[in-house]
Amino acid sequence: MPPGQITQRERPVSASIGWRDQQFLIEQCEVTDLAGRFGTPLNVISERALRENFRRISRAFAASWPHGPVMVLPSIKANYVLAVRRVLSAEGAGCDTFGASELQAALRGGVAPDMISVNGSAKDEALIATAVDLGARITIDSADELHMTAAIAKRAERRARIRLRLRPDYEALDERSELLVDRSISEAANTYKPGIEVGEAKRLAAEALADPNLDLLGLMVHLGRHSASVAVWRKAAASMAQAFAEVAGAVKGWRPTELDIGGGFPAPSDPTSPTGSPAPAIEEIAASVGKSLSDGLRAGGVEPAGITLQIEPGRSLFADAGVHLTRIRHVKEQTNPAHRRWIETDTTEMFLPDLLIEHAHFKPEFVTGDGDVTPADLVGTSCGFDILAEQIPAPAVSAGDLVVFLGTGAYQDAASANFNALPRPGTVLVDGEKAEWIKRPETIADVFARDLIPDRLA
Ligand SMILES: Cc1ncc(COP(=O)(O)O)c(C=O)c1O
Repeated sequence: MPPGQITQRERPVSASIGWRDQQFLIEQCEVTDLAGRFGTPLNVISERALRENFRRISRAFAASWPHGPVMVLPSIKANYVLAVRRVLSAEGAGCDTFGASELQAALRGGVAPDMISVNGSAKDEALIATAVDLGARITIDSADELHMTAAIAKRAERRARIRLRLRPDYEALDERSELLVDRSISEAANTYKPGIEVGEAKRLAAEALADPNLDLLGLMVHLGRHSASVAVWRKAAASMAQAFAEVAGAVKGWRPTELDIGGGFPAPSDPTSPTGSPAPAIEEIAASVGKSLSDGLRAGGVEPAGITLQIEPGRSLFADAGVHLTRIRHVKEQTNPAHRRWIETDTTEMFLPDLLIEHAHFKPEFVTGDGDVTPADLVGTSCGFDILAEQIPAPAVSAGDLVVFLGTGAYQDAASANFNALPRPGTVLVDGEKAEWIKRPETIADVFARDLIPDRLA
């Protein structure tokens, strides 16, 4: 790579985040001020970006589904910071939850129980009992779970509101998965455990309809982000529609009132993209999915009129509303046996775990630092390789300079870890000129808070 000059310091990254007048801003807050005030490493969420992302996704799917309402149930696993969830609750969002703690997060985050879908495989009895009690939707993942739910509802003298999660036949999706890169999307979908085979789901739907303690509202699927391609999403939606229509068609006199197609839509910046390219516009993906679903349902004998479409966006909603700030601690350079420059930061891949899980690329912006741009490895502070960005063009930087990683608002805080006993960073919410803690950083005391030393070892 030939040396060059830093040129990108003009570009806004989005309406709420990016360069303006040579300053990197989150709404009206300058990131060097935020780093000075709150310290680094630091997660920052733009409230305006989050609200705008929610509205844009809602509009995109509403335009693609003229047959009935669209319910957006953001996936809380992508970001379960309670204040973040409060913002979405104020927008009228529902919620996809997994397990007892995420259900608690949804409730503490202000989600109305009837807007919650309790998803996930192998749920335990306590979780189902809580969901029945709350009147939340329960997305049933197996025959055993259906029977457990029916028994719990009967005991509680309640009617459980359920949907069946299906395992569509994705055989047509022979494109390579971008998530499990050693296999095709159909192979990856086959490897993934949740859901009920269509044949069994037909029997369970009939059984559920005959049970006075069960209210079968609809059907659910979730494929995940295996591809950002509009054409692949079109095919995926056709497979989903076929599974929905087969189950609905098998039960005389029943029509689903809701169909949930899960999440997996790429974020605009698409850090998961193996090529580093941005994703197609969500409007394009939504239009293609909506049409393919409608056509597929009709072809399978199910008229979509009046059916509520549900979506569970995670990354497409949260990722680009968040950034991760880190300061440079040290720059190391070698000339022998090959030239290499390491820019060592105060963060780690443990706080940006999709670098490891999804081989993600979070675009770094050098907020400070100047001069010629030459290749460097941006690395983390843990004792591992901890490569945050490899052989990227970087200006001359030194200790104290600031770097912003873009597109980190989904999953990075939620899945971060304490390797090397490192306390995890906190999160700040920006709203215009205002910036405030919404999750405090961990302390060293927090890291050891669960340890117990038996008396004999004291
Ligand atoms: C059931 C369900 N819905 C929605 C999502 C959100 O997925 P994404 O963040 O890829 O949109 C997930 C993520 O794993 C999920 O398991």
